[in-house]
Amino acid sequence: MSYMVEARAVNKTFRVAKRRPGLLGGLLSVVNPEVRVVRAVSDLELTIKQGEIVGLVGPNGAGKSTTIKMLTGILVPTSGEIRVAGLAPVPQRRELAAHIGVVFGQRTQLWWDLPLIDSLRLLRHLYRVPEARHSANLARLREMLELDEFMDTPVRQLSLGQRMRGDLAAAVLHDPELLYLDEPTIGLDVVAKARIREFLLALNAERGTTILLTTHDMDDVELLCPRMVIIDHGRKLYDGSVAEIRERFGGERTLIAVLDAPLHDGGAVERELPQGVSLARVEGPRLELSFGRGSMPAHELVAWLGARYRLRDVTFQEPEIEDVIRRIYEEGLLLKEVASP
Ligand SMILES: Nc1ncnc2c1ncn2[C@@H]1O[C@H](COP(=O)(O)OP(=O)(O)OP(=O)(O)O)[C@@H](O)[C@H]1O
Ligand SMILES: [Mg+2]
Repeated sequence: MSYMVEARAVNKTFRVAKRRPGLLGGLLSVVNPEVRVVRAVSDLELTIKQGEIVGLVGPNGAGKSTTIKMLTGILVPTSGEIRVAGLAPVPQRRELAAHIGVVFGQRTQLWWDLPLIDSLRLLRHLYRVPEARHSANLARLREMLELDEFMDTPVRQLSLGQRMRGDLAAAVLHDPELLYLDEPTIGLDVVAKARIREFLLALNAERGTTILLTTHDMDDVELLCPRMVIIDHGRKLYDGSVAEIRERFGGERTLIAVLDAPLHDGGAVERELPQGVSLARVEGPRLELSFGRGSMPAHELVAWLGARYRLRDVTFQEPEIEDVIRRIYEEGLLLKEVASP
């Protein structure tokens, strides 16, 4: 099996000089530097197949950007093996450039003072893209990303959402098989986020582009990524689907029932509730029941309610994935799992 991305036992440590406080301390730090070692990425194993869309998530400082930078050849791993599109990123960085596109959401790769169109034209020469292919790609990208309204505006004057669309176009003009995106939706409004997600899905469907993206937005992961990788403190804690995370750590689900008439005595319902089910809220005829995954199958709970009340409507609410992920970070749920044999 050949992978688009293959990282084996990859480590990255940074040596940061500690500064002692005060003028004397500063002098001492120069003469006799005290070094602190930061393990940004530890024993990372990651393989990605052609055509996959993978979301890399983790709290601030988890090692996401460091991982992307090693996979693009910008940073040299301290140890371990990396292959991207069959190439070694650092020694073969020039060859690799033809196969990958990169977007760092926090900064632009476009020429700040030039109109967007000029940057896009310049890139043709940098990547040596044949004229006809470049024109065809540019025409398609103008349409997909709706670039025309600001094509002649200098990049410095673009809004964040427009700039991101320009950066995306710049990253894929040379038809890379693999696209890295480090926080591509950071700071964008809901409409701009939706447009970028749509573009990425289309790119993946039309060209089979493999995509690795980092994000703090769980909607990005839910809507784009069949596969999610969670890292924390440089370690991979999870590699699988969002659905599975929700299943394992989602906690309580909610059943929302609308009854035929307002419920006057919520207390009476509460006393009768089956084991593991609790009354979360009553508002007129609307009743919300929380129940854990192990407590009772959903259909049995509906039958139980139906035997006592006339039901107008029943819906279920899954826990918000945001909440699940927050609990994973805060309570170290996955860490405990990794630590236990
Ligand atoms: N050039 C560097 N020199 C020293 N330490 C660094 C350097 N780059 C990153 N680090 C450290 O490595 C760790 C991982 O940083 P990284 O930027 O990869 O995190 P991240 O997951 O991208 O976080 P964020 O969500 O905030 O972007 C952090 O502790 C960071 O301080
Ligand atoms: Mg980062």
